[in-house]
Amino acid sequence: MPTTSPDPCIVVIFGASGDLTSRKLIPSLYEMDSLGLLPKETAIVGVSRRPKEDDAWRSELESDARANAVGFDDAKWRAFAQRISYYAGDATKSDCYPGLAAKLDAMHEERGTRGNVAFFLSVSPDLYAPIVRQIDAAQMVVEGKRWCTLDPVSANWQRIVIEKPFGHDSASAAALNRELAQVFDESSIYRIDHYLGKEVVQSINVFRFANTMFEPVWNHRYIDHVQISACETLGVDDRVAFYDQTGAIRDMIQSHLMQVLAFVAMEVPCRMAADDIRAEKLKVVRSIRSVSPDAVASSCALGQYAGGSDVVAYHDLPGVAKDSTTETFAAIRLQIDNWRWAGTPFYLRSGKRLAQKRTEVVVQFKPPAADLFRGVPHPLGVPAGNRLILRIAPDEGARLTFESKVPGRRMSIKPVHMDVDFRKEFGSEAVEAYGPLFLDVMSGDQTLFKHRLEVEGAWDAVMPYLSEASNAARKSIESNYAPGSWGPASADAMMARDGRAWNTD
Ligand SMILES: NC(=O)c1ccc[n+]([C@@H]2O[C@H](COP(=O)([O-])OP(=O)(O)OC[C@H]3O[C@@H](n4cnc5c(N)ncnc54)[C@H](OP(=O)(O)O)[C@@H]3O)[C@@H](O)[C@H]2O)c1
Repeated sequence: MPTTSPDPCIVVIFGASGDLTSRKLIPSLYEMDSLGLLPKETAIVGVSRRPKEDDAWRSELESDARANAVGFDDAKWRAFAQRISYYAGDATKSDCYPGLAAKLDAMHEERGTRGNVAFFLSVSPDLYAPIVRQIDAAQMVVEGKRWCTLDPVSANWQRIVIEKPFGHDSASAAALNRELAQVFDESSIYRIDHYLGKEVVQSINVFRFANTMFEPVWNHRYIDHVQISACETLGVDDRVAFYDQTGAIRDMIQSHLMQVLAFVAMEVPCRMAADDIRAEKLKVVRSIRSVSPDAVASSCALGQYAGGSDVVAYHDLPGVAKDSTTETFAAIRLQIDNWRWAGTPFYLRSGKRLAQKRTEVVVQFKPPAADLFRGVPHPLGVPAGNRLILRIAPDEGARLTFESKVPGRRMSIKPVHMDVDFRKEFGSEAVEAYGPLFLDVMSGDQTLFKHRLEVEGAWDAVMPYLSEASNAARKSIESNYAPGSWGPASADAMMARDGRAWNTD
């Protein structure tokens, strides 16, 4: 939704030798460049501790870009690679900065990037605050908090992009927000969630607000419930150390799924502008009912995958604590206490080693007020129509399922589908979600980035499921679901208690 074009700038990536940088960040910047969307002045400086020559780093990055970027082209890569350089230093130490600042100054002069810098923290979360303090101490932020003292026309900018996880709980997220606010203005802080770079998440707004069909029925009077799922077939693999401290609620639900929920549930903003959209999303997050401790166990299902023929059980992975109750599967039920959604539950589910990779929003409409087709045979036993599915992954698309008469003399009813595959419809291959988000940072468009209060509100909403009140649900978590299944029996039981079932379409 950017309304302005990206400014020339230098992107400084802290954590240059890391996995995220080479698998996602650099390929996504390359994609933007090869589509002609990156301003020609843009330069990229990678910072991490191990020493490397520019050319050595460029060749390291090339194989991941070749594997991950859409339509990789050797000549375009060679041209793009000239924008990239490396700076070796410990970003938590002050002696890293005089040299880095001098390098950036020379590059601004040479490339015409006007003093604009987008810092990207692609390092372990415990380094976020120490690095921000060093950036401040080195006086590399001349806009940020001090923007109002500059002439806004000629002012350059310094922005910071922060990866997830943003905090470990409500208190640590609030503490990190305070640290950031000492150095950067809120309008210069970009808390990134790459899910929001996915086309279909952004198209929720268009779907809801550019059509008249859905908005009038988008409320508790017509919608029975909403399911937001992010299911993966992969396990924890080599991320054990990180994952055993994190789990599905922190890793997926608090961040990505809560963002999707906010877009699905928000009120109509007065304009399609970042501040207005963020204000509406924030109201949703703040309207989530706080679950009382005695209701936690009945409104969640937690699991850990068991072993299989070629799968090591989560509990048996080297590095997982002996008594670990970290969930590799979580489903929670949330209630939004506002006029639009009172009484319509939102079910959020995420897990590893599940039957299928699928990320989707399922909007289940209520059955008709009067069932005129009572007694009419239905092949599924129960009506399954009146359902809208927005698919986010692996393929982006939408499916509308509605009840239809089976042709023939006898009256019989069966659900049928109307499907849209966005890739087939629009013909373009999906680019890596980080690319458009980088352009938003360069354009100063925060629509798809999280506000401070939104992050804290999302933590508040999930904290009951991480607190002692969740112990009952964690008690028998070990190996309670088979790899390749849809999660523990308790997830189905939770839905069944509400008279509902997870979507299997
Ligand atoms: N990987 C993903 O797909 C993914 C997805 C979502 C979010 N994230 C988040 O993104 C961040 C980075 O993840 P990652 O997987 O890329 O981690 P990673 O592979 O461990 O990379 C982090 C890099 O930071 C560098 N580093 C460590 N200490 C440093 C210091 N003091 N100064 C400068 N550089 C330092 C390290 O390189 P040196 O040893 O050379 O210094 C390391 O290669 C994390 O916060 C993660 O949670 C990652």
